[in-house]
Amino acid sequence: MNTIQDYLSSDTIDIALLLTLVLNKNTAELITHADYCLTSAEQQTLQKFIQQRADGTPFSYISGTKGFYHLTFKVTTDTLIPRPETELLIDIALTLFSKDTACQILDLGTGSGIIAITLADKNPHWQVVATDYSHAALEVAKANATSNIQFAQGSWFEPVNKQYFDLIISNPPYIKENDTHLKALTFEPISALTAGQDGLSGLRIIINNAPSHLNKNGYLLLEHGYDQQATIIKLLAQNFTNIQTFKDYNQQNRAVLAQLKN
Ligand SMILES: C[S@@+](CC[C@H](N)C(=O)[O-])C[C@H]1O[C@@H](n2cnc3c(N)ncnc32)[C@H](O)[C@@H]1O
Repeated sequence: MNTIQDYLSSDTIDIALLLTLVLNKNTAELITHADYCLTSAEQQTLQKFIQQRADGTPFSYISGTKGFYHLTFKVTTDTLIPRPETELLIDIALTLFSKDTACQILDLGTGSGIIAITLADKNPHWQVVATDYSHAALEVAKANATSNIQFAQGSWFEPVNKQYFDLIISNPPYIKENDTHLKALTFEPISALTAGQDGLSGLRIIINNAPSHLNKNGYLLLEHGYDQQATIIKLLAQNFTNIQTFKDYNQQNRAVLAQLKN
């Protein structure tokens, strides 16, 4: 095999995407240059990528990027690969305040920074703070930032002591420690995936401490596991009102929005 067509005709996993990476061409260009013969250096790089993909490395960790909302983000093995489900949080957050309001937003567990950066990029007047426990993830988020965001390292609210926000938003780890789905996620950082035996340890801390960091009528917006919504509503009931639930594009329960009680 040495032409683009030869490779495209093979049943290698994600071969068209891998060719776009190696040859720096889009998929349409692959078709129009189908008889191009790869150089031996290009074939070597492609073979390395084919092997990595065959070993289970997610394509985004090979390309080092992932699209989210209207932007492309750098990702590394220190960060979760952004999921399309999380775009739901952006859709909801963008409805809460007008573009011109100088509101204060906190993104807890920012990872590659997708939530904080997307919101700040869409609304330059919003003042966004983003935190993560992982130094390495925060470095990736800082590299991704397109606008002025305050990044801080520490566990949940620790780095924002005595700061108040109009919206606290988070896609925390929410998978149970012994969940069988983890077998398919071995390339991503475990600290971005699991949260105790019931998957709720991070969500509990966030829900219990958010009231001390929210302005009057402030919002808490959370992503959660498909089977966690009822428990989360119970946890929210003491301090929150106007609780709204949302499904993702697969019709799975995926997000909750709640407003601080007066
Ligand atoms: C599910 S990932 C979400 C990353 C990113 N917000 C996204 O949606 O792609 C959860 C993130 O929470 C961070 N995290 C885990 N435990 C934490 C803690 N105790 N305090 C702050 N962040 C934490 C992880 O490092 C990870 O980046």
